[in-house]
Amino acid sequence: MVAKDYKPCVPLSAIATSTTHGEDSPYFAGWRAYDDDPYDAITNPSGVIQMGLAENQVSFDLLEKYLEEHQEVSNLVNGIGGFRENALFQDYHGLNSFRKAMASFMEEIRGGKVKFDSNRIVLTAGATAANELLTFIIANPGDALLVPTPYYPGFDRDLRWRTGVNIIPVNCNSSNKFQITKQALEDAYTKAEKANLQVKGLLMTNPSNPLGMAMTRSVLEEILNFISSKNMHLISDEIYSGSVFSSEEFISIAEILEERDYADAQRVHIVYSLSKDLGLPGFRVGAIYSYNDAVVTTARRMSSFTLVSSQTQKMLSPMLSDVNFTKNYIKTNRERLKRRYDYVVKRLRECGIECLHGNAGLFCWMNLKPLLEEATTEGELKLWEMILKDLKLDISPGSSCHCAEPGWFRVCFANMSIETLDVALSRLTSFMEKRKKT
Ligand SMILES: Cc1ncc(COP(=O)(O)O)c(C=O)c1O
Repeated sequence: MVAKDYKPCVPLSAIATSTTHGEDSPYFAGWRAYDDDPYDAITNPSGVIQMGLAENQVSFDLLEKYLEEHQEVSNLVNGIGGFRENALFQDYHGLNSFRKAMASFMEEIRGGKVKFDSNRIVLTAGATAANELLTFIIANPGDALLVPTPYYPGFDRDLRWRTGVNIIPVNCNSSNKFQITKQALEDAYTKAEKANLQVKGLLMTNPSNPLGMAMTRSVLEEILNFISSKNMHLISDEIYSGSVFSSEEFISIAEILEERDYADAQRVHIVYSLSKDLGLPGFRVGAIYSYNDAVVTTARRMSSFTLVSSQTQKMLSPMLSDVNFTKNYIKTNRERLKRRYDYVVKRLRECGIECLHGNAGLFCWMNLKPLLEEATTEGELKLWEMILKDLKLDISPGSSCHCAEPGWFRVCFANMSIETLDVALSRLTSFMEKRKKT
C-alpha cells in the first residue's frame, strides 16, 4: 500500500501534484472511514453505515428480473458471436443502436415531452467524464465556471483538477430554500470579474445533488436569460432526472428550449448517466447531449479517452429500448424512492430533526444547525466527526458541498437495505434522546 503523503524522488507534473482534486475533503474521508470499518448486520454490527454515497439500490430486483426473462440479452454479450464482436475495434461514435436506446430512455424519463436526436448523443464513461469533457471544450485553463451551491463534492475534481478551470460558487441559502436567484448569479459573476477570471459557463444539477430538489420553470428561465446575457454556456447535469418522485415535477432544460423554438440552444449541453436512475454506476455509462454541432463533434473526438465498452452497450441496448420495461421501471423506481424519502424524513422529524422539503434524489438535506456548538464551518465539522466516530454514520457535511451556511448535512438513503436504514435511524434517534436528557 502507498502512503498518502508519499513523495516521489522523480518529479511529477504540476497536475499530478496539485491538490485541486479535492479528495482531502470530509466527503471522501467519510468514505475511507466506511471502507476501514464497514457495517454488517452479522459480522460487524457496530461498523460504519455508509450514508455518504448516492447510490440507488432500491430497484435492482426489476433489472434482475428483466435479465432473467431475457436470456437472449446475455447470449448477445456472452455467446461466441457476441464475444468476437465485442472484442473487435469500436470507434468513438458508439453503437448506433445504443445511442438510439439512450435517446429513447432519456425521452421516457421526461414523460415523452421532449425529443432527443441520437446523432447528438456522445457516449462517455459516466457523468464524471461528461462534465470534465465539456469543461475542456468550453473553457481554457484559468477561466471560470459558475456552480450553484451546495454542489456535488466530486465537481471540485471533475471540473477543476485536470482542466485547470476555476469554480466560482453561486451562493444559495436556506432563506429561499436554496433556490438560485438572479442576484446570486450576478454576485458570483462580479466576483469572478474582480478576480480577473473569464466566466465561460454555468454548471447546474437539476434535480440538485445534494438538495434533492427539482428546479422550477421560473428559475430555469432566469438562468437561460442570464447565460445568454453574458454570452456563456450552460451545462445541465440531469443525472437525477429519473429520481424526481413525481414525473410532473421535473422540467428539463430541453423542454424550455423546445418551447422557445431552440433560441439560444447552442449554448446548452445536457449531461446524463445511468448511474443514478438505473443504479448502475459500475457500468460507467454517461452521455452528453449538445445542441451545438461543434461541441458534439469535439466531444465525440475527445470521448476516445473515455468510451463505454461494446459489451456494456450491447447488454443495455435491448433493455433501454423496451418501452414496456422502461415505463414500468421508471414509475416503480420513483414510487419506491418517494416512499423511502417520506419514511426517513418522518423518522428524523420524530426525533426532532428537520429536513429541507425535497421532491427528488437519493438523499435528504438535513438541518442540524440547532446541534452546533458554534455556527461555523469548524462547528459543523466537529459535529460531523462526532457522528462519524461515535454514531458510526457517514453523512456528508454541507461544507464539503461548499454550502456557506453551517449545519446542513446530506444523508443518502437508497444505497442500503431498509433494515440497515433502520439501524442508522435508530442510532440517530438514541443520540437525539440522550442529548435531550442532558
Ligand atoms: C451531480 C452529479 N454529477 C455526476 C456524478 C457522477 O456520476 P457518474 O457515476 O455517472 O460518473 C454524480 C455522482 O454522484 C453526481 O451526483
